[in-house]
Amino acid sequence: MRIVEFLDDWYFSCVGHNEELVKIPHTHAHMPSNYLDELAYQFKSVYRKHLSLAPRFKGERFFLTFDGVANSAKVYANDELIFHHEGGYTPFEVEIPCGEVEIKVEVDGSELAHIPPFGGVIDYLTYAGMYREVYLKRVSPVYIEDIFVRASASKVLDVEVTLSSATSVDKIEVLVCHELQVIRAIAAEVFDKKVQVNTIIEQAHLWELEHPYLYTLEVRLKKGEDLVDIASTTFGFRDAQFRSDGFYLNDKLVKLVGLNRHQCYPGVGDAMPRLLQVRDAEILKQELGVNIVRTSHYPQSKHFLNRCDELGLLVFEEIPGWQHIGEGEAWRNLTLQNVRDMILRDRNHPSIVIWGVRINESPDCEELYAKTNALAHELDPTRQTGGVRNFAKSQLLEDVYTFNDFSNAPLLSPKKVCQDLKAPYLVSEHTGHMYPTKRYDDEAHRLEHAMRHAKIINRMMESKRISGAIGWCLFDYPTHGDFGSGDQMCYHGVLDFNRIPKLAASVYASQQDEIPVMEVGTSFDIGEHPGGLLGPIYVFTNCDYVNFYKNDVLIKVFHPKHSEFKALRHPPILIDDLIGEALEIGEGMSKWDANNVKKVLMASSVHGMDLPLRYKLRMAVAILRYGISIEEGINLYAKYVGNWGGTRTVYRFEGYKGGAMVKTKTFGNVRNPKLVAKVDYEVVPVYETYEVNRIVVQVLCENGNVLPYAFDNLEVSVLGPIELVGPVQSLVGGAAAIYVKTTGKGNADVIIKSSQFGTCEVEFTII
Ligand code: GAL
Repeated sequence: MRIVEFLDDWYFSCVGHNEELVKIPHTHAHMPSNYLDELAYQFKSVYRKHLSLAPRFKGERFFLTFDGVANSAKVYANDELIFHHEGGYTPFEVEIPCGEVEIKVEVDGSELAHIPPFGGVIDYLTYAGMYREVYLKRVSPVYIEDIFVRASASKVLDVEVTLSSATSVDKIEVLVCHELQVIRAIAAEVFDKKVQVNTIIEQAHLWELEHPYLYTLEVRLKKGEDLVDIASTTFGFRDAQFRSDGFYLNDKLVKLVGLNRHQCYPGVGDAMPRLLQVRDAEILKQELGVNIVRTSHYPQSKHFLNRCDELGLLVFEEIPGWQHIGEGEAWRNLTLQNVRDMILRDRNHPSIVIWGVRINESPDCEELYAKTNALAHELDPTRQTGGVRNFAKSQLLEDVYTFNDFSNAPLLSPKKVCQDLKAPYLVSEHTGHMYPTKRYDDEAHRLEHAMRHAKIINRMMESKRISGAIGWCLFDYPTHGDFGSGDQMCYHGVLDFNRIPKLAASVYASQQDEIPVMEVGTSFDIGEHPGGLLGPIYVFTNCDYVNFYKNDVLIKVFHPKHSEFKALRHPPILIDDLIGEALEIGEGMSKWDANNVKKVLMASSVHGMDLPLRYKLRMAVAILRYGISIEEGINLYAKYVGNWGGTRTVYRFEGYKGGAMVKTKTFGNVRNPKLVAKVDYEVVPVYETYEVNRIVVQVLCENGNVLPYAFDNLEVSVLGPIELVGPVQSLVGGAAAIYVKTTGKGNADVIIKSSQFGTCEVEFTII
C-alpha cells in the first residue's frame, strides 16, 4: 500500500549564507511590496535533506514528488545526479534509492534563456526556490501511475487507469464515491498497463456553477485479495463547450465574466501555502461573483484549482510564457513538455474548461502550435484549446479564438478580429495597462477604472458572438523594470496586491445576487475634483433601488436603469439629481422651471461652465423665463450642488432588496477615524505544511467608510503559535495587510497599532 508523506523541513544554503533549516513552501528571498529587485532571488541554492528509507516489504519503491521548484532543479541522491527538471510551474517525480539517502536539490533561480517563460522580457516575476510542496511516496513494485476520468453530462463515466507495469497484478477495483458513500463499484481485470473502465451513473448530479457536485474516484489495485495500491482523484460530471454563439456548460449558455490571476503574494512571492491560494478562489467566486479565472500565464497551485472545483469557478489554464517564443530547440521542447505536464496534472479538474496552448501574445508559429494543439487533444480529447493572441486575423490552430482586446472600444467586433466567422470567440484580457489605477488614486480616476470594466462587460453581455470577457486583472502585481509604474508594480488589478478592493471590484461584485453590494463612486468632497466639479456620480449595486437623502431629506428613489448598460444584470445607477424638490420649495419655482434649472445645475457639476449646447439652451430658457442672472445661477449651484465652503452636507444612500433595506452608506464630515482589522480565517486547519493567515487592516471613519488617504506606520505584535511574515507594511491608502505564519496549534492573537488611528486586535485558532 502506498504511503505519502509531506516533507516540510529542508536545509537551505546559498553563497554568502550559512545553511539554515527552512519550511516548504520556501522562497529564495523575501521581497518588499514595491520597488523590488528581480535580481534579489536570481541565484543558485541547495536544499538538502537526509532520509532513512527502510523498505516495509521486498521491492518497495520510493519516489520524491516536487510540486514546483523555480526555475531549474537538479536532484542528487548520495551525490549522484538522478533528475534534472527545468521550468518552475509543473510537478516532477523522481525515484530514489532506499537506505540512508542524502537528497540534495540544486536550484537555479536565474532567468535561464532556454526555459520558458524566459529568453525575452516578461511582464511578471517568477521568484525562485522550492516554493510548492514536496512529498515522499512509498509504493509496491507495481503501482497506480495515473487516473484519467472523463465524466460527461450524460452521466457516462470513462476511466483510464495507468499502472507502472502490467505484471503480477490480478485486478483493479474502481469505486465511485460521493461524500464518503460508495455509489458504484466496478472490478476490472488487468491485461495491460492501461486499464479502461466505463459505466453510466444515472443518479449522478451534474457539476454546475451553482451546485458543483464533486465525486471521488478511488482505484484499488489488488493481487489476489491483497491490496497493493490505492489512488484517488476528484471529478465532476459535466459538458463544457465553446461554440460560435458562446460558452455552454451542460448545454446551457453561460456568459463568462472573469479575471486573470497571477499567483504571487507580498513578501513571499509565489511561495504561499494552501490557505491563501484557496482564499483567492473564494474572493473570485464568493466576493466578486465572477464565473471564470484565467491562470495567466502558467499552471497554478493545485490548492487554488481544487477550490475552483469545489466552488464552481471555471478555469482557463495555460502554459508558461509571455509574448515571445524563445530561441532554440530546448525552449520549444520545454514548451511541449509544459503542455504535457500541465494536462497530465490537471485533466481531472471539472473546473478547467480550456487549455491555453500558445505562449501568451506570441506571434503565429504553425510549426510549434500545431504540435501543442495536437498534444493537448491527444492527452485530453474532452477539452478545447485556446491560444491567447493580441492581434487580429492570426492563424487559428486552436478550437477557440482567445483574444486580448485592449481597444477599449469598448470591445472590437469579432468579425474584425477573427477570420473564421464561426470560430468560438473569447476575450481573454481587457483594460489592464490601458488604465493603471492605484487604490489611492484620486476619485475620478478610480471611477473611470470601474466604468471601463463595466462598459466592457456590458458589451460582451450584449454580443451574440463573444463567449466572455476576462479582465486584466485580479490584483496588482510586481514585474520587471520594463513595465509598471516605475516601482516595478503593475497597478492593473481590481484589487491591490494585498487583495484589498478598488472601486472596480464593485462592478464585478454588484453583478451577483448572493451578497448585497452598494458602493458609491464619490465621497462628495468637491475639493477632491479639479475646479470643484464632482463629475458624474455612480452607485455600483445589486439592490432593487436606492433611496438618496441629503441632510435627511429624501431627494429621489433611483432605480437601476441605464441606457448605456442595458445588458448588465445590475447596471450602475447614475445619480443625476442632488436637488430633488428643493428648487420648488426653496426658490418657489414651478415644477417645469425647477426641472429645467436642475438639469443645468447638475450638468454644471460635470462640465463646469463649459456646458454642452443643450444645457446652454436650457440655461437661456431659465434666464429668459425666470430672469436668473449668471451670478444667481452660480449661487444656485453653490447652494444646491457644490456646497463650496458651506456646512458639510450629509449624503445618505439606502439600498433595498426584496423590500428590505440591506445596505446604507453615509458621507459627511470625516470624524473619529479608527483602525479596524479583520482576519481571513478565524479557524485555520493545518494539514501538511504551515499556513499563512491574512489580516486586513483599514482606517474607517465613523460612517464606516475607508479613508483612502490615510497613511501611517503600523506596529504589530503577535501572541501564540504564529510569527509575522516579513517586515510589517505601512498603511497605504487607508489599508494594509498583515501576514502571519503558523508555528504550531492553539489560539493566536495579533495586536496592531497606529500612532494616529489607534489600536485594534484580532484572534484566530489554529487546529
Ligand atoms: C497583456 C499581457 C499581460 C499584461 C497585460 C497588461 O498584454 O498579456 O500579461 O502584461 O498586457 O495590461
